[in-house]
Amino acid sequence: MNILLCGGAGYIGSHAAVVLAGRGHQVVIVDNHCNSSPDVVLRVQQLTGTRIESHCLDVRDGGALTALMSAQRFDAVVHFAALKAVGESCEQPLAYFDNNISGTITLLQAMRACGVRHLVFSSSATVYGDPELVPIPETARLQVTNPYGRTKLVMEQLIEDVCRADPGFSAANLRYFNPVGAHPSGLIGESPSGVPNNLMPYVCQVAAGQRDHLRIFGGDWPTVDGTGVRDYLHVMDLAEAHADALEYLASTQQSLTVNLGTGQGVSVRQLVETFARENDCALPYEIVGRRAGDVAEVYADPALARRLLGWEAKRDLATMCRDAWRWQRQGQGVCDMPDGSDEAATSAGMASAA
Ligand SMILES: NC(=O)c1ccc[n+]([C@@H]2O[C@H](COP(=O)([O-])OP(=O)(O)OC[C@H]3O[C@@H](n4cnc5c(N)ncnc54)[C@H](O)[C@@H]3O)[C@@H](O)[C@H]2O)c1
Repeated sequence: MNILLCGGAGYIGSHAAVVLAGRGHQVVIVDNHCNSSPDVVLRVQQLTGTRIESHCLDVRDGGALTALMSAQRFDAVVHFAALKAVGESCEQPLAYFDNNISGTITLLQAMRACGVRHLVFSSSATVYGDPELVPIPETARLQVTNPYGRTKLVMEQLIEDVCRADPGFSAANLRYFNPVGAHPSGLIGESPSGVPNNLMPYVCQVAAGQRDHLRIFGGDWPTVDGTGVRDYLHVMDLAEAHADALEYLASTQQSLTVNLGTGQGVSVRQLVETFARENDCALPYEIVGRRAGDVAEVYADPALARRLLGWEAKRDLATMCRDAWRWQRQGQGVCDMPDGSDEAATSAGMASAA
């Protein structure tokens, strides 16, 4: 397939590009680089041994998008392009609605104008808010607690309406849990700028001595060891799910919504201890009070993804920790990122700046 990756130079998009090229698909990247470096594309080329066409383009630029899509035939689009920091979305809701929702509308219009009939969309477990039960099935009540989450829910609904209106159009709505880790080469990975919002990049920076210690928010949650529990999955497993979803759309023409997680809850303390053990490094931490808006446990029921896509997460927590650390030591800092940040504290939660 010839696949357009919107936001393909970002953390998840770059790993998906490697996997898709590895499976013999042709990929084209568009990205405005508001949270990524163009150098990432060079690294994807290095990893895949293929030339990757890339365009510096904002998905809200309908003219440029339509020109690109009419100049060559795309079989599908994967839509990663979004702003994703919960805290920032509370301060700048208009920017989030404009970038995420206007961008999706423009993209869907361009796809329609150019006859591109399959879309894979990056949604998030954030649409479940504070879940009533875990593991969370796709049928769980949807409730959002911040503007970022609201943009994801609105985009899901928008895409669903487009699929309903046009039976020839199908979409895979992928609800990611907590992607961590990096390509095993150490050449691409997550590059938050400023203070990381997510636990793993923060842990990496503490291990590297760039930050003093980790603060864990809450040691009295009703969980295995009192610290919050999340569903961390390796970004390469997540990337593979995109290839599976694209192949599902092409072969069935049916839309789907699936959770992408391991189905295993891991506490902050378990992650920190695994990281320290696997990478033989010290990780000083302090347990402080709970943070407003956090919840005890969020992890997926991934059975539907297994049933429909034949996908399941294969890499374990030790591998996630080793690969994240390899990227921290080898790859980080070579790609200079502009200001930006990573997905929300509330979804990955419970650890932050000292
Ligand atoms: N990383 C996570 O923890 C996580 C969890 C759940 C869902 N998601 C979603 O997955 C997607 C990818 O996340 P990521 O972690 O790779 O983020 P990222 O910021 O690393 O990647 C997103 C990419 O999109 C680009 N972009 C943003 N707005 C754009 C626009 N208007 N036009 C063109 N390019 C634009 C950015 O420059 C960046 O390269 C996002 O939609 C995010 O909301 C991420």
